[in-house]
Amino acid sequence: MDAHIKFETAPDKVARRITKMRPSAVRLLFAAANRPDIISLAGGMPDVSLLPKSAVRKAAKAALDDQAVTLQYGSTNGLPETAKAFCDIVRDIGIRHKPENVIITTGAQEALDLIGKTFLDPGDICLTEGPTYLGALQAFSAYEPDIRTIPFDDQGMRMDLLEEELERIGKDNPRLKFLYTIPNFQNPGGVTMSPDRRKRLIELSHEYGFIVVEDDPYGRLRYEGGHCLPLRALDESVIYLGTISKMFAAGLRVGWIMATPGVIGKINLAKQGTDLSGSVFDQKMAAAYFTETPWQHTLQKFVKTYDRRRRAMLAALEEYFPPEVTWTHPEGGFFVWVTLPPYVDTGSMLAEALDHGVIYTPGDGFYPDGKQGHNCMRIAFCYESPENINEAIRRLAEVIEDRLELYRAFIAAGALPNAGVAE
Ligand SMILES: Cc1ncc(COP(=O)(O)O)c(C=O)c1O
Repeated sequence: MDAHIKFETAPDKVARRITKMRPSAVRLLFAAANRPDIISLAGGMPDVSLLPKSAVRKAAKAALDDQAVTLQYGSTNGLPETAKAFCDIVRDIGIRHKPENVIITTGAQEALDLIGKTFLDPGDICLTEGPTYLGALQAFSAYEPDIRTIPFDDQGMRMDLLEEELERIGKDNPRLKFLYTIPNFQNPGGVTMSPDRRKRLIELSHEYGFIVVEDDPYGRLRYEGGHCLPLRALDESVIYLGTISKMFAAGLRVGWIMATPGVIGKINLAKQGTDLSGSVFDQKMAAAYFTETPWQHTLQKFVKTYDRRRRAMLAALEEYFPPEVTWTHPEGGFFVWVTLPPYVDTGSMLAEALDHGVIYTPGDGFYPDGKQGHNCMRIAFCYESPENINEAIRRLAEVIEDRLELYRAFIAAGALPNAGVAE
C-alpha cells in the first residue's frame, strides 16, 4: 500500500481545522474562467496588461542588479527600503507610520493568516462584515474561531447592529479578539464605510475592548466621491493591511501589516514559523516600482480603465436586470453585490449561467456558515472590456429571467419551493 492510498483510507488523521474549511468558489471557477466562450465576472483579477513594460522591467532590473541581497534569505520583517516605500505611499491617504513597525507579508492574504495565528484560539470571537472577503474567512477559520457577521448597507457596516452584537458579547469579554473590516469598496459588497461610522467603530472598539483590523487593498481605486480617512488615521492602535496586488502586481505576492511595535513583534514570531521571510526579490521589485517609476501615473490609468468598466456594468444592470433584483453602486474597487429574490439559489443557477457563457461568484461563500447569501452573487467589473461586460450582464439577465419565470409560475400555482431558503 503506497502512502497516497494509506492517506485516502485514513481521513481520521486529518486535522479538525481542515475538515471545517470550505474551498474557495473563486478558485474552483478558475478553470471555467479560462474557456474562450466564457465571460468571467467571477474573479477579482487586476488587469496587469495596463502596466507599462518599461516600469516593470526597471523594477525587475533593480531586483536582478542587487542579487547578493535579493537571492539571499531576508529578515522576517522584510526589506527596510520596501517598508519605507509603503510608509511613503500611505502618507498621502492620511497615515503616518514608522518603517520599523511594518512587517512585509506574502500578499495581504498571508497577513490575514498571520492575524488569525497571532490572535485566535479556538472559540474566540471575531467580527466581520457579512458578507465578507472569502479569503479572510478561509484564513481565520483555520484557527477555529466563532466568526460573527454584521450586515452592511450603502454606508458600510451597520453600527446599530454591531452595537447589538457587542451588547450580547459584553464589555471586555476576553474571547472577543478583533473586528475585521474592508472599509473601502468592500469585497464583495462594493460599499464604503461612511466617515461617521468609522469614528463610531473606533469609539466602540475602545468601549468594548477589541482590536480593529483594517484591510485596504482597493482604497486607491476610487472612481467617484471624496477620499475617506482610513481607520488607522483615526487611531494608531488599528492594524492596517495593504497590498501591491491591485496597484501593481498580484503575481509578486507582496503585502504589508502596519501596527504598534508590540503587535508587530508578536506577528513576527508567527511569521517565522510560516516562511522565515517573504520573497526578497519580490520585495525589492516592489520597492523599486514605488520609488523609481511613475506609479501614480500608472495608477491613474488603472482608475480610468476600471471606471469605464464599472460604468458599463452599472448601465447594463439598469438596462437588462429585472425589477425584482437589486445591486450596490460602488464608488471604487472591483465589485458589485447583487441580491435576487429570496427563493433564487445562485449556487445551482451557476450551471445555467455557464451554459449561457457567463460566470459569477455565488453569494454563500462570503459567509462563514455558508447558510446566508444563497440568493446573492458577486460580479466583478475589473477584468473584462466594457463590451464584454455588457454582453455578460445581458446573458446573466436571461438566466435570471428564466429562474424568475419558473418561480413566478410556482407562486401563481401556490406551490413555491425553497421559499425562505436564504436571507
Ligand atoms: C479584501 C481583500 N483582502 C486581501 C486580499 C488578498 O490580496 P493579496 O493578493 O495581497 O494576497 C484580497 C484579494 O482579492 C482582497 O480582496
